Amino acid sequence: RTVHPFHGEHQAGITTTVQDHLHFAAFDMADDATRDDLIALLQDWSYAAARMTQGLDVSASGAVGGSPHAPPDDTGEALGLPASSLTITIGFGPTLFEKDGVDRFGIAARRPAALTPLPRFLGEDLVPLGTGGDLCVQACADDPQVAVHAVRNLSRIAFGRAALRWSQLGFGRTSKTTTAQATPRNLFGFKDGTANILADDADALRDHVWVGGDDGPDWLAGGSYLVARKIRQKIETWDRVRLLEQERTVGRTKGEGGPLSGGGEFAEPDFAKVSSAGTSAIDARSHVRLAHPEFNGGARILRRGYNYVDGNDTLGTLAAGLFFVSYQRSPEQFIRIQKSLASDLLGEYFVHIGSGVYAVPPGAASGSYVGAGLFA
Ligand code: HEM
Repeated sequence: RTVHPFHGEHQAGITTTVQDHLHFAAFDMADDATRDDLIALLQDWSYAAARMTQGLDVSASGAVGGSPHAPPDDTGEALGLPASSLTITIGFGPTLFEKDGVDRFGIAARRPAALTPLPRFLGEDLVPLGTGGDLCVQACADDPQVAVHAVRNLSRIAFGRAALRWSQLGFGRTSKTTTAQATPRNLFGFKDGTANILADDADALRDHVWVGGDDGPDWLAGGSYLVARKIRQKIETWDRVRLLEQERTVGRTKGEGGPLSGGGEFAEPDFAKVSSAGTSAIDARSHVRLAHPEFNGGARILRRGYNYVDGNDTLGTLAAGLFFVSYQRSPEQFIRIQKSLASDLLGEYFVHIGSGVYAVPPGAASGSYVGAGLFA
């Protein structure tokens, strides 16, 4: 029943204790939308988001308090529900700054240099309508109805100015951001989020998550970059793999989640350790080794993903996987790790099918709106 303030130094929904449910949405601005439309949209979204995160309707007249002869401001399905730890995090995609060479909103010169479309990676087969978007909204809550209500109402507020491009529901967080949270499991049955950046690690957040004052541009200082990847997991194939091989692939035990070099869940992996069979205790191509900072120039990211199941496909296999979300000081950190994962043993069991990269502005001051600095 926690209430997270919408205003503050950083946007909520990054270091916030990871909630149980996600509704992530990407939006495209309307072809004829102007700079003033974009500013007004961000103001209206910030106003509504500040209210919804407090457990209130989108406006004072809300779902039932307005004229009975007009459609209500709020769609109503969250009436009576508590705030449910709702956070709403807003980001800007590369195309917001420039699309097909056109500077639609007079902000091309203020695009962060690091905000460019991600390069193509091995093992991806991206669906255009699950990729990109001028704007993104990450709504996380402990009640899925509250997260869906948030995205639905923000879409409605955007009507005529921006339209939903794609969206994704997620359940069952696959990360943790506080020591108090138990490490959850992903759909391969392994603990996910063991070696994550946590909310109380101020040094790691400064070095790896928040855009610094000297990183540029000024309007993004205190913000971050969000990378989203929809990763379809080949569940049925994985389920036919013997346990020892599953563990070799990940580099950790399935039960406790300890590194295969020995020790409990939080033991440091020892990549030099040789097993009694004379081979590396942790396989050189295991996921954990290739993703580890030691093999990526020290790069670390804050992971905040969710499991998803979109029903099943025509072959009767689960259309399921991981909706991977990470926050980092620069997309370069994600790119570095993702490139290193090109030879990941785990890669045989999943395909990246959706993708997005967004600059996430710092939090709005009370009475202001997310992204105000970009238009100052
Ligand atoms: C660690 C699963 C995709 C980056 C882990 C762990 C598991 C896991 C089980 C070990 C526990 C932990 O420390 O959290 C998966 C699955 C994926 C996936 C099932 C896809 C379906 C990715 C991607 C990236 C990534 C796309 C980034 C490009 C990391 C990092 C670690 C990690 C940085 C921590 C490594 C360390 O410092 O020890 N992942 N992962 N993972 N994963 Fe993934």
